[in-house]
Amino acid sequence: MASITVRNLDETVKQALRLRAARHDRSMEEEARLLLADGVGEPDQRPMAAGGSNLPKPVGGADPDHAYPARGKRILLIIGGGIAAYKCLDLIRRLRERGVSVRPVLTRAGGEFVTPLSLGALAADRVFTDLFDREDEHDVGHIRLSREADLIVVAPATADFLAKMAGGHADDLASTVVLASDKPILVAPAMNPKMWQHPATVRNYATLESDGVHFIGPEAGEMAESDEAGTGRMAEPMAIVERIGVLLDTGPKPLAGRIAIVTSGPTHEPIDPVRYIANRSSGKQGHAIAAALARAGAQVKLISGPVNIADPAGVEVIHVETARQMHEAALGALPADIAVMVAAVADWRTDGAADEKIKKTASERTPRLALVENPDILAAVGHHERRPCLVVGFAAETEKIDKHGRGKLERKNADWIVANDVSPETGVMGGDANTIRLIRRDGIEAWPTLSKQAVAERLTERVVDYFAENTAHA
Ligand code: CTP
Repeated sequence: MASITVRNLDETVKQALRLRAARHDRSMEEEARLLLADGVGEPDQRPMAAGGSNLPKPVGGADPDHAYPARGKRILLIIGGGIAAYKCLDLIRRLRERGVSVRPVLTRAGGEFVTPLSLGALAADRVFTDLFDREDEHDVGHIRLSREADLIVVAPATADFLAKMAGGHADDLASTVVLASDKPILVAPAMNPKMWQHPATVRNYATLESDGVHFIGPEAGEMAESDEAGTGRMAEPMAIVERIGVLLDTGPKPLAGRIAIVTSGPTHEPIDPVRYIANRSSGKQGHAIAAALARAGAQVKLISGPVNIADPAGVEVIHVETARQMHEAALGALPADIAVMVAAVADWRTDGAADEKIKKTASERTPRLALVENPDILAAVGHHERRPCLVVGFAAETEKIDKHGRGKLERKNADWIVANDVSPETGVMGGDANTIRLIRRDGIEAWPTLSKQAVAERLTERVVDYFAENTAHA
């Protein structure tokens, strides 16, 4: 085989290759050669994976999300021309790690930003471009290309590509594949904010939405172009991965017809316009529970304090800042069948936040903060006349976990308390794992240390069992 020049690969691919090679104890060249031989060598002779032999193995043995609902599914990924095209390399990698096969179709403009070699190496599949010749057409065909996929994803989708889709054009491979498809389509637009706001794009978006095309993003933020900001950034790869999971989820829905309220994250209690009281909660556990309940079919209303993680897909999210706003949103979300209060609500707020920034002055002494207690949201829901049948609270403790947990269960009228040790040495606050004791009125279940996602899944299983056993509550 001809030699491979790794230094000509772009930086993202090089980094992915470096990690993979290190994991397998091979040189980068050797790793690239095996990847190409495995994937790019003969894929056009075989159909896209349908749960059979060419299903991707998790990259490098990594299996970050064994419950990913799109595992074993096939994505046709159309990469349009835009600076965000580099993000689709990460998207491919993350999908393949989750056992999804990805077949890339690169538009001519997309080819200005990423190369077929990078895409092919990461996807371990043939990359289709407009150079798709008659022989290929005979062998694969654009109809088969679109029909063999479970979902078509366009990421990034330019304003021009949206216009083509809305107008039903078929003047290149990518637009032809979309027009020939009878499969769901997910579009991740990325463009300059002015283009996104242009009446023509607004019209095209509305047309595509009414045609049943699914959209994710674009997000607000800084643009690649200097001094440009606004809505137009492509959604992050992990948000797209999650959305794909929701769209392709055919798993059982034992909580279908149930409404769940979940609170998550910290609250911020203002001291003045620039300072606030907060805590170390990341929102990871609450968001994971909201996503798991939604995967089980519940209609989830997630009330989230300020967090740095993405909204889970398939969930209605109400963003709040303060405990009082969270309290109002939670009571406003009733009636519900299930309430899971995971938020680390600040127990106190200042007794009246200052309207202007509090200044240091030489003459005045250090200001004293007067605090007042915030409403207890779990207790309010637990004692509410429209109390959900199943009310679950969390207990963040640093000592006497069972005793304090039981006390909270009684005081707040919860059915279960998910108690965890949040002492600094456990790394729970902000970390990825949790060691739970599930306190119920009739006993305590001790769980091993689990990832926050696994905790969410196990708790959801318990919720499903609860409704299966208590048909009187149905
Ligand atoms: N909680 C709430 N509203 C509050 C305080 C807590 O809804 N104002 C909820 C939390 O979401 C969690 C449970 O009550 O489900 C227990 O929270 P935790 O912080 O462990 O207990 P606190 O009641 O705040 O008691 P303490 O801080 O004294 O342990």
